Amino acid sequence: MVIRELLRIRWPVLLIGLFPLIGCNKRDASQTTGGGEAKIKIGFVVKQPEEPWFQLEWKFAQQAADKDGFELVKIAAPDGEKALGAIDNLAAGGAEGFVICTPDVKLGPALVAKARSHELRILAVDDQFIGGDGKPMTDVPYLGISARKIGQSVGQALIDEMKKRNWSQDDTAICVITFDELDTARERTEGAIEAIKAAGVPDGRIFKAPQKTSDVPGAFDAANILLTQHPQVKRWLICGMNDSAVLGAVRATEGRGFNADNVIGIGINGTDCIAEFEKPAKTGFYASALLQAKLHGYQTADMMYNWIKNGAEPQKDTRTIGVLINRDNFQQVLKEQGIR
Ligand code: GLA
Repeated sequence: MVIRELLRIRWPVLLIGLFPLIGCNKRDASQTTGGGEAKIKIGFVVKQPEEPWFQLEWKFAQQAADKDGFELVKIAAPDGEKALGAIDNLAAGGAEGFVICTPDVKLGPALVAKARSHELRILAVDDQFIGGDGKPMTDVPYLGISARKIGQSVGQALIDEMKKRNWSQDDTAICVITFDELDTARERTEGAIEAIKAAGVPDGRIFKAPQKTSDVPGAFDAANILLTQHPQVKRWLICGMNDSAVLGAVRATEGRGFNADNVIGIGINGTDCIAEFEKPAKTGFYASALLQAKLHGYQTADMMYNWIKNGAEPQKDTRTIGVLINRDNFQQVLKEQGIR
C-alpha cells in the first residue's frame, strides 16, 4: 500500500516544489559547505532620485554596504507601479530586504503585503506608511525626522532674521508652501506656523500655498498664485516642507521683482540648496535646516543588514534632527557631515 502510494508521487514535481525552500536558505547552505558566503542583497528604493537628498541617502547606504559587505540595489520608484514592481524585481534578484521612501504613503499596506508575499523585510525611511485606517503604520520600522520640531526651528529662524533686519510686520507676510497629503510635510509646515504665531504674527499675515507636486515647479506654481492674490505685500518670509518647496517659491518671487533684500526663505534638507548658496550673489533663499542624510542612508541600510544577518529587528520609530545652515557656515558644516 505504502509503496504503491510512493510510486504514484511524481518525483520531478516534488523536487520542483521543494526548490524554493532550498533557495530561501541559500546563505546558510553555503556557510555550511564552506563555499564562500553568498552576499546579502538589500534594496534601497526612493521616490525622487533627482533630489540631491535621495542621491545622498544612496551614497551613504553604499558606504554601509561597503563596510558591512552586502550588495546594495538602488531603485528609483517615482510612482506606485514602479514601487510595487521594484519589490518583485528585488525578490527575483535574491534580495532579502529593502529600505524605501515610498512615492505614496497610502501604498503602505500594498507594499507591506507584497514584501511579505516574497518574505522580504521592509523598512520605511523619510515618509511613514499610512494604513487603511488613515493612521501611520507604526508596526513597520521607520526612520524619519522630528518634523514638527524642525518646522518650529525654521519658523523661529524666519522671525529672528526678520527682526534682525528691522522689517515691520505690517508690510511683511508669510508664504507657507504646503503639501498636506504627506504627514512629515504637514508636521513641518504646521510647526513653522506654530512658531510664527507664537512670535505674535497674526493669522491674517500667514498664507498657505498648497503645492500639487512636491518639487520646485509645484512650489513655483503654488507661490505664483499666492503672489497674484497679495500684490500689496512688500516683504515675504517663505517656508515649506523642504528646500525644493522654498526654492520654487523664491524663484516665483524673483519673477515679480523681489530679491534677497525683501525675501527670506528657509528650507529643510540643506542638501538641495548647495548650488543656491554657491551662487555669487545672494538670493532670497537665506538658510536651510540641514538634515542628517548620513543617518537616513547609512543607518537604515545598516539596520536592514543587521536584521537579515543577525535577526536584530530595527526599532520601530527613529527620529533625526536638523541644524541651521546659511551662506556663512554651510561649507564647514557640510564638510563635518561628510556631504562635501
Ligand atoms: C521627505 C521629503 C524629502 C526629505 C525627507 C527627509 O521625503 O520629500 O525631501 O525632506 O522627507 O526625511
